[in-house]
Amino acid sequence: MKTALVTGCSSGFGKGIVAGLLADGWTVIATMRAAGRRADLLSAEAETYGDRLLIRELDIVDASQRKALAVEFSHLDLLVNNAGFGVMGAIEDLSEEQLRRQFEVNFFGTVFLTREFLPALRVSKGKVLMISSILGRQSFPMSGAYCASKFALEGLSESLAYELSPHGVQVCLVEPGGFRTSMADNTVWGEKTADPASPYAVQNANMKRMREKMMSRPGVAPGAVVRLIVKLARKNKIPRRALVGKDAFGMNAFASLLPDRVVSFLYTRLYDKLLAKAPA
Ligand SMILES: NC(=O)c1ccc[n+]([C@@H]2O[C@H](COP(=O)([O-])OP(=O)(O)OC[C@H]3O[C@@H](n4cnc5c(N)ncnc54)[C@H](OP(=O)(O)O)[C@@H]3O)[C@@H](O)[C@H]2O)c1
Repeated sequence: MKTALVTGCSSGFGKGIVAGLLADGWTVIATMRAAGRRADLLSAEAETYGDRLLIRELDIVDASQRKALAVEFSHLDLLVNNAGFGVMGAIEDLSEEQLRRQFEVNFFGTVFLTREFLPALRVSKGKVLMISSILGRQSFPMSGAYCASKFALEGLSESLAYELSPHGVQVCLVEPGGFRTSMADNTVWGEKTADPASPYAVQNANMKRMREKMMSRPGVAPGAVVRLIVKLARKNKIPRRALVGKDAFGMNAFASLLPDRVVSFLYTRLYDKLLAKAPA
Protein backbone atom coordinates (compact mmCIF):
# COMPACT_ATOMS: atom_id res chain seq x y z
CA MET A 1 0.00 0.00 0.00
CA LYS A 2 1.45 3.39 -1.06
CA THR A 3 1.63 6.03 1.67
CA ALA A 4 1.49 9.81 1.25
CA LEU A 5 1.91 12.61 3.79
CA VAL A 6 0.18 15.91 3.12
CA THR A 7 0.68 19.14 5.10
CA GLY A 8 -1.95 21.82 5.75
CA CYS A 9 -5.02 19.59 5.40
CA SER A 10 -7.53 21.71 7.32
CA SER A 11 -8.77 23.51 4.19
CA GLY A 12 -8.26 24.39 0.55
CA PHE A 13 -5.92 22.36 -1.64
CA GLY A 14 -4.69 20.22 1.28
CA LYS A 15 -8.15 18.99 2.25
CA GLY A 16 -8.97 18.27 -1.40
CA ILE A 17 -5.66 16.48 -1.98
CA VAL A 18 -6.34 14.18 1.00
CA ALA A 19 -9.72 13.19 -0.47
CA GLY A 20 -8.25 12.81 -3.98
CA LEU A 21 -5.38 10.57 -2.88
CA LEU A 22 -7.63 8.43 -0.66
CA ALA A 23 -10.05 7.93 -3.57
CA ASP A 24 -7.08 6.86 -5.68
CA GLY A 25 -6.13 4.10 -3.23
CA TRP A 26 -3.40 5.79 -1.19
CA THR A 27 -2.94 5.57 2.55
CA VAL A 28 -2.82 9.22 3.60
CA ILE A 29 -1.21 10.82 6.62
CA ALA A 30 -3.16 14.08 6.75
CA THR A 31 -1.45 16.65 8.94
CA MET A 32 -2.79 19.90 10.34
CA ARG A 33 -2.39 22.29 13.23
CA ALA A 34 -4.64 21.65 16.24
CA ALA A 35 -5.57 18.23 14.83
CA GLY A 36 -6.94 17.19 18.24
CA ARG A 37 -9.87 19.57 18.03
CA ARG A 38 -10.15 19.83 14.23
CA ALA A 39 -9.94 16.19 13.06
CA ASP A 40 -13.67 16.39 12.30
CA LEU A 41 -12.76 18.58 9.31
CA LEU A 42 -11.94 15.25 7.66
CA SER A 43 -14.79 13.24 9.21
CA ALA A 44 -16.41 12.42 5.83
CA GLU A 45 -13.10 11.04 4.54
CA ALA A 46 -12.52 9.11 7.80
CA GLU A 47 -15.95 7.53 7.48
CA THR A 48 -15.42 6.53 3.85
CA TYR A 49 -11.80 5.36 4.00
CA GLY A 50 -11.40 4.16 7.59
CA ASP A 51 -7.85 3.32 8.61
CA ARG A 52 -6.36 4.43 5.28
CA LEU A 53 -6.64 7.95 6.70
CA LEU A 54 -4.31 8.86 9.55
CA ILE A 55 -4.73 12.35 10.98
CA ARG A 56 -1.76 13.82 12.80
CA GLU A 57 -0.76 17.09 14.44
CA LEU A 58 1.76 19.19 12.54
CA ASP A 59 2.59 22.83 12.84
CA ILE A 60 5.20 22.95 10.13
CA VAL A 61 7.43 25.32 12.12
CA ASP A 62 7.63 22.96 15.11
CA ALA A 63 10.84 20.93 14.90
CA SER A 64 9.81 18.37 17.53
CA GLN A 65 6.50 17.67 15.73
CA ARG A 66 8.33 17.27 12.41
CA LYS A 67 10.77 14.81 13.97
CA ALA A 68 8.07 12.85 15.78
CA LEU A 69 6.25 12.28 12.48
CA ALA A 70 9.38 11.05 10.74
CA VAL A 71 10.02 8.66 13.64
CA GLU A 72 6.43 7.37 13.56
CA PHE A 73 6.36 6.92 9.77
CA SER A 74 9.61 5.37 8.61
CA HIS A 75 8.05 4.41 5.28
CA LEU A 76 6.79 7.09 2.87
CA ASP A 77 6.23 7.13 -0.91
CA LEU A 78 4.97 10.66 -1.40
CA LEU A 79 5.35 13.95 0.46
CA VAL A 80 3.01 16.79 -0.53
CA ASN A 81 4.29 20.06 0.93
CA ASN A 82 1.14 22.12 0.78
CA ALA A 83 0.95 24.17 4.02
CA GLY A 84 1.46 27.85 3.47
CA PHE A 85 0.00 31.34 3.78
CA GLY A 86 0.49 34.84 2.46
CA VAL A 87 1.73 38.06 4.00
CA MET A 88 0.54 41.03 1.93
CA GLY A 89 1.61 44.63 1.81
CA ALA A 90 4.55 46.75 0.70
CA ILE A 91 7.90 45.48 1.99
CA GLU A 92 8.39 48.70 3.98
CA ASP A 93 5.01 48.21 5.68
CA LEU A 94 5.82 44.72 7.04
CA SER A 95 7.39 44.12 10.42
CA GLU A 96 10.63 42.15 10.50
CA GLU A 97 8.73 39.43 12.36
CA GLN A 98 6.08 39.17 9.62
CA LEU A 99 8.69 38.80 6.89
CA ARG A 100 10.54 36.16 8.91
CA ARG A 101 7.30 34.30 9.73
CA GLN A 102 6.46 34.12 6.02
CA PHE A 103 9.76 32.33 5.44
CA GLU A 104 9.46 30.16 8.58
CA VAL A 105 6.24 28.61 7.28
CA ASN A 106 6.49 28.66 3.47
CA PHE A 107 10.22 27.97 3.25
CA PHE A 108 12.05 26.75 6.38
CA GLY A 109 9.23 24.60 7.79
CA THR A 110 8.71 23.00 4.39
CA VAL A 111 12.42 22.40 3.80
CA PHE A 112 13.09 20.96 7.26
CA LEU A 113 10.08 18.64 7.04
CA THR A 114 11.30 17.43 3.65
CA ARG A 115 14.75 16.72 5.12
CA GLU A 116 13.19 14.63 7.90
CA PHE A 117 11.54 12.38 5.30
CA LEU A 118 14.37 12.13 2.77
CA PRO A 119 15.85 8.97 4.29
CA ALA A 120 12.46 7.23 3.91
CA LEU A 121 11.91 8.67 0.42
CA ARG A 122 15.36 7.50 -0.73
CA VAL A 123 14.46 3.96 0.31
CA SER A 124 11.04 4.03 -1.40
CA LYS A 125 12.38 6.02 -4.39
CA GLY A 126 9.47 8.31 -3.72
CA LYS A 127 8.34 11.77 -4.75
CA VAL A 128 8.17 15.25 -3.25
CA LEU A 129 5.50 17.61 -4.56
CA MET A 130 6.09 21.22 -3.51
CA ILE A 131 3.06 23.47 -3.77
CA SER A 132 4.68 26.64 -4.98
CA SER A 133 2.80 29.25 -7.06
CA ILE A 134 3.00 31.12 -10.34
CA LEU A 135 4.19 33.83 -7.91
CA GLY A 136 7.23 31.63 -7.35
CA ARG A 137 8.17 32.52 -10.92
CA GLN A 138 6.89 36.08 -11.27
CA SER A 139 6.56 38.69 -8.53
CA PHE A 140 3.53 40.80 -7.89
CA PRO A 141 3.58 44.17 -6.04
CA MET A 142 2.39 44.29 -2.41
CA SER A 143 3.13 40.59 -2.01
CA GLY A 144 6.93 40.59 -2.01
CA ALA A 145 7.20 38.50 1.17
CA TYR A 146 5.01 35.75 -0.26
CA CYS A 147 6.65 35.83 -3.69
CA ALA A 148 10.12 35.73 -2.11
CA SER A 149 9.21 32.71 0.03
CA LYS A 150 7.99 30.84 -3.06
CA PHE A 151 10.99 31.95 -5.19
CA ALA A 152 13.22 30.58 -2.41
CA LEU A 153 11.29 27.31 -2.40
CA GLU A 154 11.68 27.09 -6.18
CA GLY A 155 15.46 27.61 -6.03
CA LEU A 156 15.94 25.06 -3.30
CA SER A 157 13.64 22.51 -4.93
CA GLU A 158 15.50 22.74 -8.21
CA SER A 159 18.79 21.93 -6.43
CA LEU A 160 17.09 19.21 -4.44
CA ALA A 161 15.74 17.61 -7.63
CA TYR A 162 19.24 17.41 -9.14
CA GLU A 163 20.74 16.10 -5.87
CA LEU A 164 18.09 13.44 -5.47
CA SER A 165 18.00 12.27 -9.07
CA PRO A 166 20.80 9.69 -8.59
CA HIS A 167 18.88 8.41 -5.53
CA GLY A 168 15.68 7.84 -7.51
CA VAL A 169 13.66 10.52 -5.66
CA GLN A 170 11.74 12.96 -7.86
CA VAL A 171 10.80 16.53 -6.94
CA CYS A 172 8.12 18.57 -8.70
CA LEU A 173 7.14 22.20 -8.15
CA VAL A 174 3.40 22.59 -8.61
CA GLU A 175 2.65 26.18 -9.62
CA PRO A 176 -1.03 27.13 -9.31
CA GLY A 177 -2.57 30.39 -10.42
CA GLY A 178 -5.43 31.82 -8.37
CA PHE A 179 -7.95 29.34 -6.88
CA ARG A 180 -10.74 29.89 -4.37
CA THR A 181 -9.63 28.39 -1.05
CA SER A 182 -9.36 29.82 2.47
CA MET A 183 -6.11 31.51 1.49
CA ALA A 184 -7.58 35.04 1.25
CA ASP A 185 -9.14 34.66 4.73
CA ASN A 186 -5.83 33.46 6.12
CA THR A 187 -3.83 36.30 4.56
CA VAL A 188 -1.98 38.52 7.01
CA TRP A 189 -1.59 42.19 6.10
CA GLY A 190 1.60 44.08 6.89
CA GLU A 191 1.61 45.88 10.24
CA LYS A 192 1.63 49.35 8.70
CA THR A 193 -0.78 48.71 5.83
CA ALA A 194 -3.71 50.17 7.80
CA ASP A 195 -1.76 53.34 8.62
CA PRO A 196 -3.04 56.26 6.49
CA ALA A 197 0.42 57.85 6.88
CA SER A 198 2.07 54.94 5.09
CA PRO A 199 3.75 56.09 1.86
CA TYR A 200 1.95 53.11 0.28
CA ALA A 201 -1.53 54.04 1.59
CA VAL A 202 -2.95 54.50 -1.93
CA GLN A 203 -1.42 51.25 -3.22
CA ASN A 204 -2.66 49.38 -0.14
CA ALA A 205 -6.17 50.77 -0.49
CA ASN A 206 -6.29 49.92 -4.21
CA MET A 207 -4.89 46.45 -3.58
CA LYS A 208 -7.47 45.77 -0.85
CA ARG A 209 -10.27 47.04 -3.08
CA MET A 210 -9.09 44.86 -5.99
CA ARG A 211 -8.99 41.82 -3.74
CA GLU A 212 -12.47 42.52 -2.35
CA LYS A 213 -13.80 42.82 -5.91
CA MET A 214 -12.10 39.57 -6.85
CA MET A 215 -13.51 37.82 -3.75
CA SER A 216 -17.05 38.95 -4.63
CA ARG A 217 -16.79 36.84 -7.81
CA PRO A 218 -17.29 33.06 -7.71
CA GLY A 219 -13.58 32.19 -8.17
CA VAL A 220 -12.06 28.98 -9.50
CA ALA A 221 -12.64 25.80 -7.47
CA PRO A 222 -9.46 23.95 -6.45
CA GLY A 223 -10.40 20.72 -8.30
CA ALA A 224 -7.78 21.14 -11.04
CA VAL A 225 -4.98 21.32 -8.45
CA VAL A 226 -6.25 18.19 -6.70
CA ARG A 227 -6.52 16.29 -10.01
CA LEU A 228 -2.99 17.34 -10.97
CA ILE A 229 -1.56 16.14 -7.65
CA VAL A 230 -3.32 12.76 -7.96
CA LYS A 231 -2.02 12.43 -11.54
CA LEU A 232 1.55 13.29 -10.50
CA ALA A 233 1.31 10.87 -7.56
CA ARG A 234 0.40 8.06 -9.99
CA LYS A 235 2.99 8.75 -12.67
CA ASN A 236 6.34 6.99 -12.88
CA LYS A 237 8.14 10.03 -14.25
CA ILE A 238 7.10 13.50 -13.15
CA PRO A 239 8.15 16.90 -14.52
CA ARG A 240 10.29 19.39 -12.55
CA ARG A 241 7.54 21.99 -12.76
CA ALA A 242 3.80 21.81 -13.38
CA LEU A 243 1.65 24.89 -13.93
CA VAL A 244 -2.05 24.72 -13.10
CA GLY A 245 -4.79 27.25 -13.88
CA LYS A 246 -5.46 29.36 -16.98
CA ASP A 247 -4.00 32.48 -15.35
CA ALA A 248 -0.77 30.64 -14.45
CA PHE A 249 -0.35 29.45 -18.07
CA GLY A 250 -1.20 32.94 -19.37
CA MET A 251 1.28 34.72 -17.09
CA ASN A 252 3.95 32.19 -17.91
CA ALA A 253 3.41 32.51 -21.67
CA PHE A 254 3.47 36.31 -21.41
CA ALA A 255 6.81 36.32 -19.58
CA SER A 256 8.41 33.56 -21.67
CA LEU A 257 7.46 34.88 -25.09
CA LEU A 258 8.48 38.52 -24.63
CA PRO A 259 11.93 39.95 -23.81
CA ASP A 260 12.50 40.75 -20.12
CA ARG A 261 12.61 44.52 -20.60
CA VAL A 262 9.27 44.49 -22.45
CA VAL A 263 7.69 42.37 -19.69
CA SER A 264 8.94 44.73 -16.94
CA PHE A 265 7.83 47.78 -18.93
CA LEU A 266 4.32 46.41 -19.44
CA TYR A 267 3.93 45.14 -15.87
CA THR A 268 5.16 48.49 -14.48
CA ARG A 269 2.58 50.34 -16.60
CA LEU A 270 -0.16 47.94 -15.52
CA TYR A 271 0.64 48.06 -11.79
CA ASP A 272 1.03 51.86 -11.83
CA LYS A 273 -2.38 52.10 -13.45
CA LEU A 274 -4.03 49.61 -11.09
CA LEU A 275 -2.42 50.57 -7.80
CA ALA A 276 -0.70 53.94 -7.79
CA LYS A 277 -3.54 56.33 -8.63
CA ALA A 278 -5.72 57.71 -5.82
CA PRO A 279 -9.35 56.67 -6.37
CA ALA A 280 -11.45 59.45 -7.98
N1 LIG B 1 -5.26 29.42 -3.41
C1 LIG B 1 -4.44 29.88 -4.32
O1 LIG B 1 -4.83 30.65 -5.21
C2 LIG B 1 -2.99 29.44 -4.32
C3 LIG B 1 -2.23 29.74 -5.46
C4 LIG B 1 -0.91 29.34 -5.51
C5 LIG B 1 -0.36 28.65 -4.46
N2 LIG B 1 -1.09 28.40 -3.35
C6 LIG B 1 -0.45 27.66 -2.26
O2 LIG B 1 -1.22 26.52 -1.96
C7 LIG B 1 -0.98 26.09 -0.64
C8 LIG B 1 -2.30 25.81 0.06
O3 LIG B 1 -3.02 27.01 0.16
P1 LIG B 1 -4.61 27.09 -0.03
O4 LIG B 1 -4.86 27.97 -1.18
O5 LIG B 1 -5.21 25.76 0.03
O6 LIG B 1 -4.97 27.98 1.26
P2 LIG B 1 -5.69 27.59 2.64
O7 LIG B 1 -7.06 27.09 2.36
O8 LIG B 1 -5.53 28.80 3.49
O9 LIG B 1 -4.83 26.39 3.19
C9 LIG B 1 -3.56 26.59 3.75
C10 LIG B 1 -3.26 25.45 4.68
O10 LIG B 1 -1.94 25.64 5.20
C11 LIG B 1 -2.03 25.48 6.60
N3 LIG B 1 -0.98 26.14 7.35
C12 LIG B 1 -0.70 27.46 7.44
N4 LIG B 1 0.32 27.66 8.29
C13 LIG B 1 0.68 26.43 8.76
C14 LIG B 1 1.64 25.96 9.69
N5 LIG B 1 2.47 26.79 10.35
N6 LIG B 1 1.73 24.62 9.91
C15 LIG B 1 0.90 23.76 9.28
N7 LIG B 1 -0.06 24.13 8.42
C16 LIG B 1 -0.16 25.46 8.17
C17 LIG B 1 -3.40 26.01 6.98
O11 LIG B 1 -3.74 25.50 8.26
P3 LIG B 1 -4.53 26.33 9.40
O12 LIG B 1 -5.98 26.03 9.17
O13 LIG B 1 -4.01 25.76 10.66
O14 LIG B 1 -4.19 27.78 9.22
C18 LIG B 1 -4.23 25.40 5.86
O15 LIG B 1 -4.53 24.07 6.13
C19 LIG B 1 -0.15 27.20 0.01
O16 LIG B 1 1.20 26.81 0.05
C20 LIG B 1 -0.34 28.37 -0.93
O17 LIG B 1 0.76 29.25 -0.89
C21 LIG B 1 -2.41 28.77 -3.25
